[in-house]
Amino acid sequence: MKVHYKINEKDYSFEIHPGKVLLDVLRENGFTEVKGNCYMGTCGACTVIINGAPKTSCTVLAAQVNDAEIITIKGIGSVLKPHPLQEAFIKKGAVQCGYCTPGTILSAYALLQKNPNPTDEEIKRAIDGNLCRCTGYVQQIEAIKFAIKLLTEEK
Ligand code: FES
Ligand code: FES
Repeated sequence: MKVHYKINEKDYSFEIHPGKVLLDVLRENGFTEVKGNCYMGTCGACTVIINGAPKTSCTVLAAQVNDAEIITIKGIGSVLKPHPLQEAFIKKGAVQCGYCTPGTILSAYALLQKNPNPTDEEIKRAIDGNLCRCTGYVQQIEAIKFAIKLLTEEK
């Protein structure tokens, strides 16, 4: 079957097997910035934003989200023009091996789109599905708070 998506603001059509999960369809079509690990919906590494909400792409059938708008980590910033969240994660030492980073930043990004001034509790809740075995989370929370400051200064 054929599916259509808008990914990072560009239109794509892919021929897929109806049983494939979105994570595999994305990676097989070059979106390798989306990471796969547990394939069970528990680690959060594969998080992307689907129609405005963060979702684990390993638990979503690609066919189920035909016509969706999808954002991957490359859709919010780049090496040359990082999003304040990406900048803050680097500045605050919130990236070690980096495997969890795209998913965690996208969960934080979705939170800030809806709630630009979250409490610490709200930040923790937003990223609680993104497991990190390296940082212990403290730096990630500090980074998200620093990004909020950067975003406020940008206005
Ligand atoms: S690979 Fe999807 S949640 Fe772990
Ligand atoms: S930085 Fe290594 S898993 Fe999070």
